[in-house]
Amino acid sequence: MHLFDPLVIRGVTIPNRVVVSPMSQYIAEEGVANDWHLVHLGRFALGGAGLVFTEATAVEARGRRTHGDLGLWSDTQIEPLARVARFVAEQGAVPGVQLAHAGRKASERRPWHGETPVDDEDVALRGEAPWEAIAPSALPYGEVWPAPTPMHTEDIAAVLAAFRDAARRAEAAGLEVIEVYAAHGFLAHQFYSPLANERRDGYGGDFEGRIRFALELADALREVWPERLALFFRLSLTDWVDEGWTLDESVELARRLGERGVDLIDCSSGGIGGPHRPRMPLGPGFMVPRAARVRREAGIATMAVGFIWDAAQADEIIRSGQADAVALARELLAEPNWPLRVARELGLDDDFGRWKPQFGWWLGKRERVVTKLGMRQAPAQPAKR
Ligand SMILES: Cc1cc2nc3c(=O)[nH]c(=O)nc-3n(C[C@H](O)[C@H](O)[C@H](O)COP(=O)(O)O)c2cc1C
Repeated sequence: MHLFDPLVIRGVTIPNRVVVSPMSQYIAEEGVANDWHLVHLGRFALGGAGLVFTEATAVEARGRRTHGDLGLWSDTQIEPLARVARFVAEQGAVPGVQLAHAGRKASERRPWHGETPVDDEDVALRGEAPWEAIAPSALPYGEVWPAPTPMHTEDIAAVLAAFRDAARRAEAAGLEVIEVYAAHGFLAHQFYSPLANERRDGYGGDFEGRIRFALELADALREVWPERLALFFRLSLTDWVDEGWTLDESVELARRLGERGVDLIDCSSGGIGGPHRPRMPLGPGFMVPRAARVRREAGIATMAVGFIWDAAQADEIIRSGQADAVALARELLAEPNWPLRVARELGLDDDFGRWKPQFGWWLGKRERVVTKLGMRQAPAQPAKR
């Protein structure tokens, strides 16, 4: 098994194990996909990725993180996203959507506007008004943040219904994988982390109470999301804080999600916010051993993510059975053709056969000429000092 072997989940065949990790662009208007999304996601499909995820896509307007988030809370959002999904699928990649609710992280400025709460200044500058966030408890996301409104049981039911409706729209748009954004301090993570949840009503307290929302979310989606299509959950495997959510708890939650029809756990970490100071041991592929543990102990497929860019390392993650897929974000921004380049580097494409003929025909022809004329020089050795 290697990086370019297909991954079959239910009725979905992902042609290789390089996944485009969700990357918010904050450029949608009223949640509607536009030409930017088509080109941004389309070029990853042209670049040879097996599965292309949209960015965090809000299931209700209140659950957006910023004014620029994509959404699937209205039928008018289906066709513009379907256009993107069609293009991705036509290139042979699988189109996926990350369904999201930001909870207390809602009403935030775009990263380049400060990643701070939207306020009157945004109204003056951009005509963008703040809105009220909901969350498991009235604990603010950070120091300068307003306290969110704690959710009543009816609010929980309404959010579950919004996820169900968004899943129906995702199917109508031709998306084949749903990933629930249950990480990085988004709503489902706010429920399962003790750092954001101080409820005493069956949706908080002990482990069982805190994971209840995530489990109900999996059930709600499986009610409407066709059996033949894949369902992933992105979890923060740990809060990296002593009193926070732990890897042990993630293993158990992953197992329970698997029992409810979740097919794969996307293994990320961190992001819960609050006054806590997480200690993240960043390094190349730092989440890989943790994804491997979830895979081994919870008996569910996993995807590793975070600081992965080296071809040999990505391939070894799959060959060694540490994860079933790798997700890349920033490296693909730098090099959207990374999968195609890496396939050649790994000796899995010696004639540009994986490239679209519009590109590969020319590159193959040039390569033959270059080789014949001996134009390709061995890389110069750095001079000895
Ligand atoms: C521009 C950008 C936007 C992102 N938006 C999202 C998002 O919408 N949802 C999400 O789960 N993660 C998001 N992330 C995190 C990435 O999916 C990924 O987990 C993280 O960048 C680590 O992978 P990397 O080291 O390959 O970049 C974003 C990252 C970047 C760089």
